[in-house]
Amino acid sequence: MKTFREAILLLPWAIGAASMALPGSSSQVTFTAPMSWDSPPNPDATHHLVFNTVSSLLQRWPNTIYRNGHTVTPATISAGTILYHGRRNAIVPTTPEWLAFDFEHSHMFCRSSCYVISLMATRDLRLVYFDGSNAAKMRGGPMDSQDILIWEYPHPERTSSERIRISELCAWGKPFSVDGFVRMEYHFEVMLCDFSAGTEVVTLSNLIPVDIGSRRRDAGSERSGYSDPPTRRPRLPPKRPDPPTGWKGSLPTLNFIEVLNAGSWHNQAPGETRVHIDYSGVVTFYNPSLTSLVEARRGQPRSHHRLANISKTDSELVRQELAEVFARQVKGPGGGIDWGSITHVIVKRYSERLELLQYLLEPATYTNVTEQAVAVRIQILTMLAPYITTEAVRNSSDTSWVGSIVHYCSTTQTSMIPGGTLTPQERLIRDAVEGTLHEICRRLTLMWVDAFDIEAATDRRKAEALGRWRVHVRELMEWLDWSVWNKCNPACGIDALCHVPTWPFVEGDHPDDMTPRCISRVRLGELALEQTLIYS
Ligand SMILES: *[C@@H]1O[C@H](CO)[C@@H](O)[C@H](O)[C@H]1NC(C)=O
Ligand SMILES: *[C@@H]1O[C@H](CO)[C@@H](O)[C@H](O)[C@H]1NC(C)=O
Ligand SMILES: *[C@@H]1O[C@H](CO)[C@@H](O)[C@H](O)[C@H]1NC(C)=O
Repeated sequence: MKTFREAILLLPWAIGAASMALPGSSSQVTFTAPMSWDSPPNPDATHHLVFNTVSSLLQRWPNTIYRNGHTVTPATISAGTILYHGRRNAIVPTTPEWLAFDFEHSHMFCRSSCYVISLMATRDLRLVYFDGSNAAKMRGGPMDSQDILIWEYPHPERTSSERIRISELCAWGKPFSVDGFVRMEYHFEVMLCDFSAGTEVVTLSNLIPVDIGSRRRDAGSERSGYSDPPTRRPRLPPKRPDPPTGWKGSLPTLNFIEVLNAGSWHNQAPGETRVHIDYSGVVTFYNPSLTSLVEARRGQPRSHHRLANISKTDSELVRQELAEVFARQVKGPGGGIDWGSITHVIVKRYSERLELLQYLLEPATYTNVTEQAVAVRIQILTMLAPYITTEAVRNSSDTSWVGSIVHYCSTTQTSMIPGGTLTPQERLIRDAVEGTLHEICRRLTLMWVDAFDIEAATDRRKAEALGRWRVHVRELMEWLDWSVWNKCNPACGIDALCHVPTWPFVEGDHPDDMTPRCISRVRLGELALEQTLIYS
C-alpha cells in the first residue's frame, strides 16, 4: 500500500498516452519522458483543453462561459434547412448578410417595420465555424480567431467593423468555395456570402411592427465599458411604431429574453444540430505545437486564454493549416470518426458520477466513516467495473496489479482506430481523448488502490482515505473543468431561464462572473432590454 507512489512502471501504453500529434505539416513533438501509469499530466499539456473545445463545439453554454474561441473547423448545413433574416425593408440582400437559426433571433432586428425572410438551403452549404462567442463584439478576445484568419493578428479595435469583417471573411473563403461562416453570440448565426448561391427564399413576410419599449426609447446612450459603441449609423431615438390598420392592443415588444431563450435551446450536447462539424478538419489553437500560446497560457485560468500574443510563426502555422484543411474535400456528416459523440459519451459517463462522488465525500454527507467509505467504494467500483478483470486483484506490494485497469480504462475508446487513416487534426483529438481519459482513470485507480480493502480497515484509515479521495476528486474536476458542472442549482422554474453573462450584457451581469442565475422570462423583458446593447 504505502509504496504505490514510488512504484515506477514503464508501461508502453503510458508512453503512447503522452505523445502528441501535430498539425498539417510534418513536424512532430513528443513528450518523451517515460511515464508510469500514475504520472500526473504535464502542466503544459493541452489534452483536457482540446477535449473540452471538441466536446463543446456548437453548444451555447460552454461557448458562453469560455467566450474566447480557440477552434476553427469546416462545417456544413444540410439541404432543406431553414434560416431567417430580419430587416426593415422588403429587399432580399445581394451582399453578404447575417442569418439566424431561430426566428426569435432574426425578429430582434425588426423595428417600426418588420420583414423576416425565411430561406431554405437548396444544397449542403459549406461553412467555416468559429467556436467561443466569436460574434460577441467586445474586446478581450472573443473575435481573435476570426482576426487571425483574416488579418494574421487580433485587432481589438475592429470588433464593430462587421461590414469589413464579413466581406474579408468571404474573400478568404472564396478560393475554397466556402458559402459562409458560423459564429455565436447569445445564439448561433450564419454569415452568408451570396444569397443567390445555395439558398432560396421561402417567405418574405411583412410582420407586425415591433415596439422596442418606452424605457428603451428614453434611454439615451448605450452602456459602455465592455462593449465598443456600434458604428454602423447614427441613431435617432425611435418612436412608437404605427400598428397596422385594425390592430387592437399592444404591439409585440422586442423581448430580448426570448432571444436568449431560443439560444438556450442549444445549450448542451448535441447543441445546434443544424450545423454538422467535419471533425477531420478541426484546427485548434490549443495545439501544443503553437509554443507562443503555450507560454501565454501558463498560470492563466481558461477564461483568460487569449490568442492576442500569438507569434508570427504560430499565426502562419495556423493559417497554413486552415488553408490545407479547407482545400480538402469536406467529409461531412458520417464521413469519418464521430469524435463529437465519443467526447459526449465520456462527459455523460463521468460528469454526474464525479459530482455524486464529490457529494458523498463531503464531511457533512455522513456521520459514520464506515458508511461513507463503503458508499464511495461502490461508486469507484461502478466507474471502473468495465476495466477490472479477474486478474486485477492485489497480488503484490507495489501497484503493478492496477496497471491493466488504467490501460483499458484510458484506451478502450480509441485503441482500435487505425492511426494511419486519421488526419493530423484527428490524431490531435485522439490524443486529447486518451490523455483526458488517462487522467480520469489514473485518479479513479489511485482511489481504488486505497478503496480495495477499505471495508475491513480501521476508522482511522478510513478517515485518512476519505481525505485523500476528496483531494483527488476536487483536483480531477478542476483539471477537467467541464462546463456541465456550472449550472443553476436548484434548476430554474418553467418561467425562468438559467443565465450566464453573454454579450450584449443585461442588467445584473458582470462579464467576468460566470456564476449562473435564474432570470425571469415573464417579468424582466423590458428590464433586460433596457440594459441591452442592440447593435443593428
Ligand atoms: C501580451 O504580451 C504583453 C507583453 O509581453 C503583455 O503585457 C500582455 O499582458 C500580453 N497579453 C496577453 C493577453 O497575454
Ligand atoms: C457505523 O456504521 C456501521 C455500519 O452501519 C456500524 O456497524 C457502526 O457501528 C457505525 N459506527 C458508529 C460509530 O455509529
Ligand atoms: C499478479 O497478477 C498478474 C496478473 O495475473 C500477473 O501478471 C503477475 O505476475 C502477478 N504478480 C505477482 C507478484 O504474483
